[in-house]
Amino acid sequence: MASQDWFESVVPADAVPAADIDTGVPHIARVYDYWLGGKDNFAVDREVAEKVIGSFPDVLVSVRAQRAFLGRAVRYLVAEAGIRQFLDIGTGLPAADNTHEVAQRAAPESRVVYVDNDPLVLAHARALLVGSPEGATAYLDADLRDVGRILAEAARILDFSEPVAVVLLGVLHCIPDADDPAALVARLLAAVVPGSYLVVSHPAIDVATSQMGESMRGYNEQAPVPLTARTHAGVCRFFEGTDLVEPGVVQLHRWRPGADDLELGHELANYGGVGRKP
Ligand SMILES: C[S@@+](CC[C@H](N)C(=O)[O-])C[C@H]1O[C@@H](n2cnc3c(N)ncnc32)[C@H](O)[C@@H]1O
Repeated sequence: MASQDWFESVVPADAVPAADIDTGVPHIARVYDYWLGGKDNFAVDREVAEKVIGSFPDVLVSVRAQRAFLGRAVRYLVAEAGIRQFLDIGTGLPAADNTHEVAQRAAPESRVVYVDNDPLVLAHARALLVGSPEGATAYLDADLRDVGRILAEAARILDFSEPVAVVLLGVLHCIPDADDPAALVARLLAAVVPGSYLVVSHPAIDVATSQMGESMRGYNEQAPVPLTARTHAGVCRFFEGTDLVEPGVVQLHRWRPGADDLELGHELANYGGVGRKP
């Protein structure tokens, strides 16, 4: 099935009645959009976003560093590791340089499946789906906890007998320890062949600890889905069973920095890394 047909079957045009978008409680996709300077957010999102900025102003630097890391990691995977397939879970609202744009700029035949569980992201899926004609770009409305369904649906676009990069940027902190996020990552990695990759970025609790702790508490007091920042060791656990690409799990701006990236001495409470399944 062509990707557009698959998309139509998964996301009919009228899939998102306004009632599904809850404007009464903050949603991380919309809060993140506000921090990035986007317009797809509501008063309740802006209120909690400002509260977090008040206790942790560096969140604005951190979200930009995360987008820059996305760009560097995806470019590395396409240009240096030869990856042509991406499963990007926790896609977010469209911003500059989404995964398919970075990948297909370097290799137009790249195939990308996006997954998110936010109805507003779903409503913007069409905007995300403008990929290169040579490649494929598709979108799935699913929860990261539903690994079986994600893999089954993604297999309609991605060839799981070839390497796939599993991209989990700024999403694992939306999964509390009680839901065992490391087990979810392990199941995703078990489904991909050797030579596949894992990309993770994750807020840190052991950098700027008191500010981060206060900002997380402030967010969690108001939002229905709590966030969990983790330690360096906690983030490294997600990469168990992979060989870490140099320089390992580091503060995002220190992962293969480019000329325009944040000054290296900056202490950024956001870790990231890339691992290869041997
Ligand atoms: C902070 S944004 C990150 C967006 C993008 N990956 C980036 O790094 O720029 C987190 C995204 O994960 C999505 N998300 C949160 N929990 C999720 C879950 N359990 N399953 C799927 N998506 C989820 C949110 O809706 C949001 O779009």
